Amino acid sequence: MDYQSYYRKSIEEPEAFWGEEAEKLQWYKFPNQILQHEGNEWNWFADGEMNTCYMAVDYHVENGRGDQVAIYYDSPVSDTKSQITFSELRDQVARFAGALKARGVEKGDTVVIYMPMVPEVLVAMLACARLGAIHSVVFGGFASHELAIRINDAKPKLLLTSSCGIEIGKVIAYQPLVDAAIEEADHKPDAVVVLHRPQAEFQMKEGRDLDWYGFQEGVEPADPVPVKATDPLYILYTSGTTGQPKGVVRQNGGHAVAMRFSMEYIYDVKPGEVFWAASDVGWVVGHSYIVYAPLLHGCSTIVYEGKPVRTPDAGGFWRVMEEYKVSAFFTAPTAFRAVKKEDPNGELLKKYDLSSVRAIYQAGERLDPPTYEWLSDLLKKPILDHWWQTETGWGIAANPAGIKQEPVKSGSATFPVPGYQLHVLDEAGNVLGPNEQGALAIKLPMPPSCLNTLWNNHERFVEAYLDTYPGYYLCGDDGYIDEDGYVFVMGRIDDVINVAGHRLSTGEMEEVVASHDAIAECAVVGINDELKGQLPVAFYIRKDGVDKEPEEIQKELIQMVRGTIGAICCFSKAMEVKRLPKTRSGKILRKTIRQISETDDVPTPATIDDPGILDEIREAYKTAKVGRFV
Ligand code: COA
Ligand code: AMP
Repeated sequence: MDYQSYYRKSIEEPEAFWGEEAEKLQWYKFPNQILQHEGNEWNWFADGEMNTCYMAVDYHVENGRGDQVAIYYDSPVSDTKSQITFSELRDQVARFAGALKARGVEKGDTVVIYMPMVPEVLVAMLACARLGAIHSVVFGGFASHELAIRINDAKPKLLLTSSCGIEIGKVIAYQPLVDAAIEEADHKPDAVVVLHRPQAEFQMKEGRDLDWYGFQEGVEPADPVPVKATDPLYILYTSGTTGQPKGVVRQNGGHAVAMRFSMEYIYDVKPGEVFWAASDVGWVVGHSYIVYAPLLHGCSTIVYEGKPVRTPDAGGFWRVMEEYKVSAFFTAPTAFRAVKKEDPNGELLKKYDLSSVRAIYQAGERLDPPTYEWLSDLLKKPILDHWWQTETGWGIAANPAGIKQEPVKSGSATFPVPGYQLHVLDEAGNVLGPNEQGALAIKLPMPPSCLNTLWNNHERFVEAYLDTYPGYYLCGDDGYIDEDGYVFVMGRIDDVINVAGHRLSTGEMEEVVASHDAIAECAVVGINDELKGQLPVAFYIRKDGVDKEPEEIQKELIQMVRGTIGAICCFSKAMEVKRLPKTRSGKILRKTIRQISETDDVPTPATIDDPGILDEIREAYKTAKVGRFV
């Protein structure tokens, strides 16, 4: 079957299409009903019963993969390597699930996981899935306030953490972050389970903290608990336009079906092969392609605790690909931009044999044509961009490599993935034609794995995603589809920015900046950056009577943003201006501010009476100095 007929079947006969895909997994009770859909409500495989952990781990042990490596752990920052077979993983997960159960964690309970890139985090996630408990992993680079917000929303019974994360040349002690988050949160977990790493101490608090291994001693291993396909597997918080992140809810059944399908269709890998996503388990790429999809498909996965560069050099990625005979590799373009910066001629690549690698996959941000060309010339392998988001959990547009690889058009993520009825809409909701740019929207129902609610906040889900265009899910990106059906994603239409492949909210940073006592008004916008894609910068007006040097204010703001959201914001510039450009109704023209900072050629918006205001912004940006965190 070619792409067109394959895709058409998924849209015209979705039940037949996804029913056949569902049959490729081992259910306890196969669903009679494949799709329920009415208006804004839809569910996949509603009466099916299954367990994601069983499908991803036990099933493979029962079917001859017990001795195959499930997880390779490679940590240049701690100088550690290890591996876990599927049999060992089953035993570790069953024991950890038994320990969770002994502490009162049951089906439907939530568990927050705040950990670095170590294999134990996969064990913990799978153990939750085994019990039908819902995990919510919080990226280890977030500061305590972000953790507190998530604890308050998810209301976990337990918090699982570690004594530290390790970044290049520095150890990030988690204790101060965990203590501050629990102090700040209204909801208090029953206990905190701590994985002690030799690089940092964690002073155990009596009555609150439990040791990772001590808490597993003497417990009965737990069997997988059958759950409904529509029961949540996890909640993953993602940035929206405000300081309150959105709790994306992933259901067990649709997720498992889509994950397995994507390994064949998008990544073209076979069970038994090694799949590597160089991301972090705290992000959706990590959930889907470090943990669930490879394991559901019977592949070995790699947990890499390192960076593309400086671990120890810019050849780290090539080394790992060779060492573990990776078949398909997935990372964000920013990672390769970092490699390119340090090793522009790819000298380090010459040391390694990458013959096992069939293709390189890119996502998280648009694969910019210069990076595409560089990588493609260097590796002489297919470099395949694909577009997706936390909300979907997998590709919306991708090259159908598993059916037949289509020619790549630089700057495009290729075709809509089966199940996604992707349209480009104008402001009135009319469907636009080829090459016309507008809002990218998916006609309901969304395919399996995509969210159909937000945790504890269905109204926000409807309002944020479904209300703008009735019958459609609003992706939040704009773009166009060309005359050959290729999808081009051009950027966000909201206040979300992408910093080194990390999705962040400028609205949230603006709330932090605005809370500084010297600041009367401010705007935070994302400016293009050659390495990280975008970087946030703030423009602010000081309050009357404040007597402080701008450098001092900038330093304090950097500390506040790092301390509240995290260092990953890479926030390092705050510029003082006298006025901010606004609409007549008083709304700050953030898009204009962003454009002024990027180019000299910005048309003056009709709502601005005095064009001098734009010159002031331009001047402030040009003369600004990058502030440092001290
Ligand atoms: N825990 C604690 N701190 C973290 C962290 C974590 N998990 N991840 C990042 N940070 C900190 C860094 O130490 C750095 O702090 P600093 O300002 O004190 O130096 C800051 O956050 C910014 O980190 P980062 O953006 O990673 O910058 P970098 O210069 O260390 O590395 C890249 C740049 C491009 C190499 C790196 O961002 C990268 O590999 N990106 C790929 C992104 C990715 O995998 N995205 C996931 C979606 S696919
Ligand atoms: P996240 O939810 O963190 O995965 O971020 C999702 C957002 O990242 C999308 O809405 C896009 O704005 C951007 N994005 C992800 N992949 C791509 C891609 N291949 N091309 C363009 N933008 C992308």
